[in-house]
Amino acid sequence: MAKPTFRATPIQVQVPATSANIGPGFDAFGLALGLQDRYVAQIMDDPGLDIDVTGEGADSVRRDEKNLVVKAMYEGFHFMGGKPRGLALRALNVIPHGRGLGSSAAAIVGGLVLARALVLSGDERMNDEALLSIASRLEGHPDNVAAALHGGATIAWQEVRHGEKVARCVGIHVDERIKTLAFIPSNSVATTKARKLLPELIPHADAVANSMHAALLVQALTNRPDLLFIATEDFLHQKYRQEAMPKSFALVSKLRAAGVAAFISGAGPTVLVLHTGDPSEVAELQRAAGDSFSLQALGISARGAVVVSA
Ligand code: HSE
Repeated sequence: MAKPTFRATPIQVQVPATSANIGPGFDAFGLALGLQDRYVAQIMDDPGLDIDVTGEGADSVRRDEKNLVVKAMYEGFHFMGGKPRGLALRALNVIPHGRGLGSSAAAIVGGLVLARALVLSGDERMNDEALLSIASRLEGHPDNVAAALHGGATIAWQEVRHGEKVARCVGIHVDERIKTLAFIPSNSVATTKARKLLPELIPHADAVANSMHAALLVQALTNRPDLLFIATEDFLHQKYRQEAMPKSFALVSKLRAAGVAAFISGAGPTVLVLHTGDPSEVAELQRAAGDSFSLQALGISARGAVVVSA
């Protein structure tokens, strides 16, 4: 296999935050949000890694080959035939970490898109499907990474092809009346911890109700926002995760009791609301949240990961 040749100039990528699940669409639905991390990478002649991180996680993010953006870049380079000798990375992070807003999906997708843009020629080009499959393997599930790559709302799934797991997704058009509100708490919850709380088995009646609501969610997002409240009711994961995020769960219950389409964003603990309302309703929601959450109207990002000029 011939070693790839690399671009000498830096590449910058912008990747959106994402909210996974949207209630009943566990591991399948993803929604890109209007908050973007930016990563700049350049191939270096000298061996080694030069990593600088500012913003979210600047105190805790790894500055070695375990850095998630770098790890994803190396996976991408490996797929395309080999990695460069030296690499410099600058990350400007704004997506909060450990809040269920897809910071790890952004790092993984951003790293893979950077790697693809930095390779000029190699044995194998990484198309979107290959990129999504690598990203899903690194993330452990395909929902956030699909939305981070493509933007908008996505439905992702995995299939086995020639003995290998392949991730795929489709985009769905989101009704322009739908807006988002994120209630972001100051505490974080690790996705691994939230996933360990899930039971092996669930009652059949819950599976039936969840299928109905997940199917309905497509229609609600596309052109029936009046159905969002019922369509975002989940039976698969939220109640089992309550002990890891009691305040978020209480807020979801309070908002839903008032007829608001609220759910846990991804593996939590952010609470996301989908609505078509006016500013007076937002003020009402703000009161319901109390002081424990910072409220942000993030909006839906039609764009996924994009290479922008460095
Ligand atoms: N579907 C995943 C979960 C999203 O809920 O565990 C994690 O970001």
